[in-house]
Amino acid sequence: MASFPGSFPSTRLRRLRKHPWSRKLVAEHVLTPADLIWPVFVIEGKDKQEPIASMPGVSRLSIDLLVKAAGEAKKLGIPAIAVFPKIDAKLKTPDGREAWNADNLICRAVAAVKKKHPDLGVICDVALDPFNSDGHDGIWQDGDVMNDASVELLCRQALVQAEAGCDVIAPSDMMDGRVGAIRGALDAAGFEQVQILSYAAKYASAFYGPFRDAVGSKNALKGDKKTYQMDPANSNEALREVALDLAEGADMVMVKPGLPYLDIIRRIKDEFQMPTLAYQVSGEYAMLKAADKNGWLDGDRAMAETLLSFKRAGSDAILTYAAVDMAKRLK
Ligand code: PBG
Repeated sequence: MASFPGSFPSTRLRRLRKHPWSRKLVAEHVLTPADLIWPVFVIEGKDKQEPIASMPGVSRLSIDLLVKAAGEAKKLGIPAIAVFPKIDAKLKTPDGREAWNADNLICRAVAAVKKKHPDLGVICDVALDPFNSDGHDGIWQDGDVMNDASVELLCRQALVQAEAGCDVIAPSDMMDGRVGAIRGALDAAGFEQVQILSYAAKYASAFYGPFRDAVGSKNALKGDKKTYQMDPANSNEALREVALDLAEGADMVMVKPGLPYLDIIRRIKDEFQMPTLAYQVSGEYAMLKAADKNGWLDGDRAMAETLLSFKRAGSDAILTYAAVDMAKRLK
């Protein structure tokens, strides 16, 4: 603990808090649009928009509308979007093979966005859950997800996304060894400049509910994801996950969910001093929106405060469904 000079009454901490200008002057952290990544949901069709009931203000968009929305985000100073697909149930199979179809929805969406907005970063999730019939992130067999067999398929998925023009591959599947395998596959195919953002410390969380609605994996999901996502009881283990992912070639690491895991963000930042991102997940967003709708709190202020807390905890950037709204308010 640092020893602080000064004592009351010569020292009065309220003195600097008295004026808006001096509060601003000594603010230790600031949130800007450049800190935000906007996760978006894409669907088939043209000029189509489907509101997601559990995520007020968020809609699934057809590719044409997504391209427009991406342009708006870019204009507001948001550096990157993260694209998630809602796949037609008819295309879902036990192995999730649609994930490595080079002409799948996500690849067409990425190509369209990059064509119109080459300087907007595009991030793609790597995991099989939007594509397979079990709702798991890998191959489900005999009551569990197979690690090494899944990693092979995830590499194929990463490759078609990179071919489509994706800038950042973001494995969210929590299989062991997938970052190294994906790095190797990307490099071997000439994609050594494609970045990897690893969902390094991803917890088996109750806060993903609305997302699973959004991508249509909720009803499919057999059991839970506790054999691969982290136990919320653990903190030291998050450091091991991050250390391994960095050793395997991750450029950036992520903690997910965000708000219940601010301590994890701080520990990772202090330990590794590497680019560390936070994901304010669907349930966190829904919670704030629901309270706002009921008039129980000022939703905009609560959102801004929450996002700033990620910066204070050590996040370099934050994935949030509120990115566009927040960027508008910050302008
Ligand atoms: C897929 C994935 C999930 C989220 C991002 N990628 C859901 C899950 O693991 O079940 C959740 C995002 C959110 O809740 O906003 N592996």
